[in-house]
Amino acid sequence: MSNKPFLVKIEKGKTYAWCQCAESENQPFCDGSHEKINAKNDNLIESLVEVNMISSKKEGKKLIAKDEKPMIVKAEKDTEVNLCTCKQSKNLPYCNDSHLSI
Ligand code: FES
Repeated sequence: MSNKPFLVKIEKGKTYAWCQCAESENQPFCDGSHEKINAKNDNLIESLVEVNMISSKKEGKKLIAKDEKPMIVKAEKDTEVNLCTCKQSKNLPYCNDSHLSI
């Protein structure tokens, strides 16, 4: 994972999917990799249920799976923005210089 922002041009009216899971090969945008994370979590949860380490799939999902879907952003004007890649910004999806303290 990079700890520097990506300067990108965005176009008015277009929507962009900013990667939230940090697994995308197309940073800072989503490439669908969060689906693989969810699949891994589902397999892990099923294994834990089988060995009785958690009582049900539903409870396990609350404990383990996170919502890693991309953040959808609609551009209100043609502009350039710094999109966060460290995933620590307090103003996601935009960089707020939090990467400087990582
Ligand atoms: S890249 Fe700057 S705050 Fe994340």
